[in-house]
Amino acid sequence: MSGNRSRIAGTGSYLPARVLTNHELERMVDTTDEWIYTRTGIRQRHVAAEDESASDLALHASRKALEAAGIAAADIDLIVVATATPDMVFPSTACLLQSKLGVRGCPAFDVHAVCSGFIYGLATADQFVRSGQHRHVLVVGTEVYSRILDWNDRTTCVLFGDGAGAVVLRRSDTPGILSSHLHADGSHAGMLSVPGTVCGGKVSGRPLLQMDGGGVFKFAVKVLDDIVGEALAANRLQKADIDWLVPHQANIRIIRATAKKLGLGMEKVVVTVDRHANTSAASIPLALDEAARDGRIRPGQHVLLEAVGGGFTWGAVLMRW
Ligand code: ACO
Repeated sequence: MSGNRSRIAGTGSYLPARVLTNHELERMVDTTDEWIYTRTGIRQRHVAAEDESASDLALHASRKALEAAGIAAADIDLIVVATATPDMVFPSTACLLQSKLGVRGCPAFDVHAVCSGFIYGLATADQFVRSGQHRHVLVVGTEVYSRILDWNDRTTCVLFGDGAGAVVLRRSDTPGILSSHLHADGSHAGMLSVPGTVCGGKVSGRPLLQMDGGGVFKFAVKVLDDIVGEALAANRLQKADIDWLVPHQANIRIIRATAKKLGLGMEKVVVTVDRHANTSAASIPLALDEAARDGRIRPGQHVLLEAVGGGFTWGAVLMRW
């Protein structure tokens, strides 16, 4: 294998078996299926079993991605895991995944950029391939948000779900990934956070997700507008050159706003938010795997990935499939 560009050689994903519908949530908090669906586009989400951790979900998704790429775990020479819900403080979820894959020796680390985590991870992996250091990189987004939600807070618990998605990046003569664009602004940290940690063996703060939903919504629409323009300009491409938008799946109204900005009909947008809800760093690779496997995304097409998340962080990756 020669060249120093990267392209996706295989995708995989995994959703926990348990499905939690909006109707079930009606019995848990003061909400309705109608409110959730009209405000967010969500009908249901998957929830991990008590004994399932982020690295377990990642393992299932990774095995499928390796199979699709036609390589063995031993062929992977770097593992990057994006998660905001790691198994433990340390070791990293990437190291735990490496062990579960039955391999050792290759570098493995986590990337923490919340809902933009997969974009950050993919951009990082692409740089390692471009530098000539690595040939096959496993990039995973995996989340168990069900563990950091206040299930009594109707303004947040209805929005998120658990899942994992993975890709194998392979060194190639031709791209593949055309460009990646990353940004952050930590000055809005309080708008979306899990404000807790561990200290002296005890929980310190309140490690449950809290959010100013309206503020996040406005910020997200604005920076996603900017980032898709930045990705197109960097590649001297026009809006009409984009074949598929694979956005982070937080809210159908945010997704529609970005599609509108790009002049894309919704038939060119991969949507999973109705079935998965917001799976944070896992949402893009879950959506990508679905559209790659069902044949929607075809070789040679331009695919634009974008996300915004807590931090705030935001970013985009533009690729030729
Ligand atoms: N069921 C019923 N009513 C609810 C619920 C619920 N689950 N949650 C809130 N409400 C009520 C509110 O209390 C409020 O009542 P009030 O008017 O009596 O005060 C009313 O519904 C309207 O609330 P709004 O916040 O104005 O509703 P809005 O249309 O803004 O939708 C939402 C809220 C869905 C959270 C929206 O702001 C949003 O999606 N924001 C983006 C947040 C997001 O996606 N975060 C994910 C992480 S970041 C990312 O991935 C981009």
